[in-house]
Amino acid sequence: MAKTVLVTGGCGFIGVNFVRLLLRERQDWRVINLDKLTYAGNLQSLADVSSHPNYSFVKGDICDAALLATLFREQQIDTVAHFAAESHVDRSITGPAEFIQTNVVGTFTLLEAAKKHWSGKSEGCRFLHVSTDEVFGSLGATGFFTEETAYDPRSPYSASKASSDHLARAYFHTYGLPVLITNCSNNYGPYQFPEKLIPLILNNGLHGRPLPVYGDGGNIRDWLYVQDHCEAIVRVIEQGRLGESYNIGGHNEKTNLHVVQLLCDLLDQKAAPLPSGQPRRSLISFVKDRLGHDRRYAIDAGKVAEKLDWLPKVTFEQGIAKTVDWYLANRDWTASVTDGSYQQYYQNMYGDRA
Ligand code: NAD
Ligand code: TYD
Repeated sequence: MAKTVLVTGGCGFIGVNFVRLLLRERQDWRVINLDKLTYAGNLQSLADVSSHPNYSFVKGDICDAALLATLFREQQIDTVAHFAAESHVDRSITGPAEFIQTNVVGTFTLLEAAKKHWSGKSEGCRFLHVSTDEVFGSLGATGFFTEETAYDPRSPYSASKASSDHLARAYFHTYGLPVLITNCSNNYGPYQFPEKLIPLILNNGLHGRPLPVYGDGGNIRDWLYVQDHCEAIVRVIEQGRLGESYNIGGHNEKTNLHVVQLLCDLLDQKAAPLPSGQPRRSLISFVKDRLGHDRRYAIDAGKVAEKLDWLPKVTFEQGIAKTVDWYLANRDWTASVTDGSYQQYYQNMYGDRA
């Protein structure tokens, strides 16, 4: 069915992959990408599709109610795929204010805009709010997050996302807004900003720089290839039950140290050797732990498998090899997004931690 989709944050990591998927696989959907172009958003990530007839870009802030009202009215938006957020836990620890503004106030502003515009005519409309498994807190050695797990966010980032989930759910129950929520585990793949673990390790490993592993490296994340995540979101938009949430995960629990060592080995195989002749594992540097560092995340994705027949297609081994190949082939992209402001951030983060 034809749709007009407002993708917020479409110039960020997952948004870029999602926009590309829609333009490829949903040819009767019009895609309007609204992005503020923060440090994490890059227009060049979509340069090759920017003149696609179904695609348009609007630079703007999801906190701007007037802009949202105009967009909903003029573009007759019937579907929202809401990715825009401040997304990095470490930044939320050093500067939480932006997280409250974009993730909480921004989501509220977007919900209000959809409510006003769809009032009395929301049949067929969908508001898909993209969230994280981090809202559920931290697991011990066993167990999984299900859709029934109580919220227990522990970082300013996850608290802001939990808050936005609650608002989205409240708009369904109170106003009947056609809301759907997805809570996803850690994504990896092309176009991820190199402040997150996997692209940061690849970027540093290529340049022979130290590879910072927080604490003992034993924290566990449950990795999902970004393409699989984007396909799940389309499935939830098309077939999800209104008012419900779906956990999306890849069944790939790995310790951080395992991931870092694997990336070192893949770089040694695929890239030029270090000038020192040392294997890249020699660059691993255990640094001071993240404050309040969640120990383990693991998703039970049984509901989305059973109800919506979605399963991840890409194994961790396939996905990580594709990711390494992409970063090796796209060094210009990494160089251009890690500009001066990132260099300063990196220095502040790690300057005194190694
Ligand atoms: P990202 O940080 O790579 O991209 C965020 C995008 O949002 C950027 O393009 C940025 O410019 C834009 N943005 C930020 N503030 C904005 C504002 N006020 N108005 C308009 N645009 C704004 O994030 P990502 O990794 O692509 O994550 C996308 C969504 O998925 C987020 O909501 C995040 O919480 C969620 N999520 C991410 C992961 C993950 O592993 N990356 C896992 C689960 C859920
Ligand atoms: P990250 O990619 O920031 O995602 P999240 O915090 O949302 O899970 O971090 C993934 C894991 O890797 C997390 O346990 C923190 C750890 N980590 C490091 O050990 N070193 C790093 O340089 C970074 C960025 C993260």
